[in-house]
Amino acid sequence: MSVKILDHALIKHKLSIMRDKNTSTYIFKQNLDEIAMLMAYEVSKDFPLKLKDIETPVCKTTGYEVDKQIVLVPILRAGIGLVDGFRTIMPNAKIGHIGMYRDEETLIPHEYYARFPSGLESSKVIIVDPMLATGGSAMDAIKAIKDRGAKDIMMVCLVGAPEGVKALQEAHPDVDITLAALDHHLNEKGYIVPGLGDAGDRLFGTD
Ligand code: PRP
Ligand code: URA
Repeated sequence: MSVKILDHALIKHKLSIMRDKNTSTYIFKQNLDEIAMLMAYEVSKDFPLKLKDIETPVCKTTGYEVDKQIVLVPILRAGIGLVDGFRTIMPNAKIGHIGMYRDEETLIPHEYYARFPSGLESSKVIIVDPMLATGGSAMDAIKAIKDRGAKDIMMVCLVGAPEGVKALQEAHPDVDITLAALDHHLNEKGYIVPGLGDAGDRLFGTD
């Protein structure tokens, strides 16, 4: 199990644009798409490969093919914002969906939708959500996906709070976590500080 915080100039630059409260929904999504592509590149570095015979215009040789079905699972709603960027880099990924919303008073997550492709047992599952706050939504989503047979799961979030990272590590020590940034703490309302506010609202223009 590992927690990796990506150290990349472009991610830092783009995330700062997303954090700015004056950034429009359109620019917010544009930067999320770009960060998602960079994160997809980073987390796919060590995907298993198998050898493959290919023929170039010049000769026969041996190439590579990713040797595992990738299943991308956005946690609805805000996780949807990371799907386009990941699919650009991983066009063969299948997509599962899990809907979770956090009760704003209790901060307890509630599952309201789940649909996954078959073959989760042998797939590499990448769960995506911009925010890892208390960790409740991620922990429940991982449990729901494990209950359906998945064994190889990674969690990818844009911004994490130390509280959520710790809770997630304790609940699912087998799941690697990748973040674009580890922020300072959660405030009394369960928002990540400094964070970027409510990711779903900023992504979809709701309030
Ligand atoms: C946000 C975010 C995560 C969750 C993180 O979703 O996208 O899913 O909060 O908080 P947690 O770590 O404390 O569980 P939200 O519940 O606001 O729903 P939305 O995506 O539909 O806006
Ligand atoms: N969910 C969000 O969208 N933002 C936070 O800061 C915490 C949870």
